[in-house]
Amino acid sequence: MEKFIIRGGKILEGKVDVSGAKNSALALMPATLLNDGINAIENTPEVNDIHTMIKLMTELGSNINFDKHRLTIDNSNVNNQVAPYELVKKMRASIYVLGPLLTRFGYAKVSMPGGCAWGPRPINLHLEAMKKLGAEIELELGYIIAKSKRLRGAKIHFDVPSVGATGNTLMAAALAKGSTLISNAATEPEIVSLAEYLTKMGAKINGIGTKMIEIEGVDTLSPADYYNIPDRIEAGTLLIAAGITGGNVTLCNVMPNHVDTILIKLEEAGFRLESNENEITLRSTGAIANVDVTTDVYPGFPTDMQAQWIALMSLANGTSTITDTIYPDRFNHVPELARLGANIEVVNNSAVVKGVGKLTGAKVMSTDLRASASLVLAGLAASGTTEILRIYHIDRGYQRIEEKLKTLGADIERVKTDEY
Ligand code: EPU
Repeated sequence: MEKFIIRGGKILEGKVDVSGAKNSALALMPATLLNDGINAIENTPEVNDIHTMIKLMTELGSNINFDKHRLTIDNSNVNNQVAPYELVKKMRASIYVLGPLLTRFGYAKVSMPGGCAWGPRPINLHLEAMKKLGAEIELELGYIIAKSKRLRGAKIHFDVPSVGATGNTLMAAALAKGSTLISNAATEPEIVSLAEYLTKMGAKINGIGTKMIEIEGVDTLSPADYYNIPDRIEAGTLLIAAGITGGNVTLCNVMPNHVDTILIKLEEAGFRLESNENEITLRSTGAIANVDVTTDVYPGFPTDMQAQWIALMSLANGTSTITDTIYPDRFNHVPELARLGANIEVVNNSAVVKGVGKLTGAKVMSTDLRASASLVLAGLAASGTTEILRIYHIDRGYQRIEEKLKTLGADIERVKTDEY
């Protein structure tokens, strides 16, 4: 096991590159299963969830090479349509193989993802969409078994604009017979990148980035190469790292329009923000103002930034309320932040954060990916030493975050430990 040791109080300064988006790459990779050739995805982050997807796709028969952020995926020998429990339980995004396998092979057997660290994360919308496209779905011994002859286009409305269900439906519909309409589709940048990639493969998609997506199914798709988008959540996390330490930092290789809402909220909190085509600079101006946020689907404030915002607000001049409408139970970071001196009360799906004058280092434990990011942020601002255990959670989605933070002047080390 490894842990982080952070000696807080260093002001972050300088420039840092943002990595490619994990949640985009996790959709782009299974999308390659729609063709039987060699595909390349550039700007893929070196994070553990990508390695889990590599293992899963290798199990299906893909031949994958991952070198310097470039994934080369050869799908000419895909011959297995079973996504086993051992891999799916590690990462819910494994459900993304369902649509491509079903539509290309007429069969997919995918383990049910089950709950996650912060509560239930259903997949009913994925399954209902596959049924609408003509699949027969059975649940057997913890597995989804989906079968069909060629899928047929259909009109599908999502009561909730789910990222994963939109992605799975896009991939399945791309090879279906006839046209599919997805109404109330997710509009997240990761879905836009998936739709653009499918288009490069030859898919016919209209309404990309809107809530109404139309897909005209084609008979085959060809291999294609794609340059992945930057990670907007890593960008937001690094901006807060700068702000929480009173620093001045420039992010490079970022798409400012993907983080507009985060930038607006940071400005309200008293930071100065400047952006150009692919850089964002944050400058601190003094005290942190208290700013409420409510998470929402894109372009709302992302649930994946909720924990980090709570860390920032725990040092604000006043009280703020942070409400999560996407995942009402996603507050595992709160008791750990309290160990550093934060004053937070969770009421239903809101955290009421009373800003405190200072945080003080302590030993804390990561419970999930974004919760660990919030602990790192709080540790950077806390006086004294913070130790963060179970950092395998952060390694799922942030590429060597300690190295990026060190580049900016943070005192953070990754060390081996027997502690769990
Ligand atoms: N939902 C349903 N039924 C479904 C699917 C979703 O009710 O069949 C509900 C969920 O319970 C939730 C809402 O719809 O309330 C949105 O969930 P969504 O399906 O959009 O989430 P996801 O596709 O499972 C992706 C990201 C998550 C991110 C969410 C929300 C990937 C691999 N994961 O998950 O990322 O929190 O969208 O933006 O893209 C993370 O990176 O830390 C992470 C958890």
